[in-house]
Amino acid sequence: MRHYTHIKDLGVAGQQKLLKLAADYKRAEPGPILKNKVLGMLFFNPSLRTRTSFEVAMMKLGGQAVALEEGSGVWKLETEDGAPMNGDKAEHVREAAAVLSRYVDVLGVRAFSRGMGQADDDSDRVINSFRQHAHVPMVSLESAREHPCQGLADMLTIRESFGQTQGVNVVLSWAPHVKPLPKAVPNSVLLHAAAAGCSITVAHPPGFELGGPVREEAAQYAAQSGARIRYTHDQREALNGAHVVYAKAWGPEPRQSEDGIVASPALRGWMPTLKHFEACTDDAIFLHCLPVRRDVEVGSDVLDSERSRVIDEAENRMWVQMAALAWLFERA
Ligand code: CP
Repeated sequence: MRHYTHIKDLGVAGQQKLLKLAADYKRAEPGPILKNKVLGMLFFNPSLRTRTSFEVAMMKLGGQAVALEEGSGVWKLETEDGAPMNGDKAEHVREAAAVLSRYVDVLGVRAFSRGMGQADDDSDRVINSFRQHAHVPMVSLESAREHPCQGLADMLTIRESFGQTQGVNVVLSWAPHVKPLPKAVPNSVLLHAAAAGCSITVAHPPGFELGGPVREEAAQYAAQSGARIRYTHDQREALNGAHVVYAKAWGPEPRQSEDGIVASPALRGWMPTLKHFEACTDDAIFLHCLPVRRDVEVGSDVLDSERSRVIDEAENRMWVQMAALAWLFERA
């Protein structure tokens, strides 16, 4: 049985296959290839793009989607094995995953980081416990460690802009925010760009390093794909010759208070504006997973410019998810 909860479920060759399939579907929709199939989606956190794009993807493929929000019309779930269930959590993931598997043909879960540090994020406890106890293919709607559908959509958008991903200079640039956001998106940008053969520079202030296991996994993909990866604290130098500027806020490690370093005036210069593009290539594009806080995380001048591909990027979520769903069912 296939799952798509982490990029390692695909690998370098699998990602290329899904990107091609997604591009084919975008050119010509495949029709009702998932007729009578049902996707169940369980959200522990809110969503605009993920929920809608998966619902529409299933509709376009002839199937249906059911969305559940944990704790809001659905029982609060205990996801830890052996935890005493004498609090507000009325159901355990063991029963919930098994029961949902009797109703749906594929199960998606969104469960963000609990903010308990890198090792906890890397263990990806919630999505992995569903993966362990569900009896149907699982797809990640974003977990503590990764957002693999976002990573795929990002690579499709780069491919559309430059005809390929191999050798494209991608700068993943840390951005300011009012709170320390999780690292799932920057982790996936790095992992998917490494698997896609990009030349990646990760630029961030000191103290905002991505986790060691993710960097090691990215290096393994780079060894297979020919990608190059470097890390720097110098945003200005990183942007020299960039084809893609991918801005994203994430929190420091170890985690600090909500009103701590992420809101520091000293770091406001990291917010991309059109001025930051002066050292990039003439055809450089801007990416961000959305949602974005205008003029906090990214300048409005960038978001409103022709460089911005953020709406195409959001649309591409739907096409890559159609490809991922078709791939999951190939073997189901
Ligand atoms: N990029 C993304 O996953 O958007 P949502 O949080 O709105 O689903």
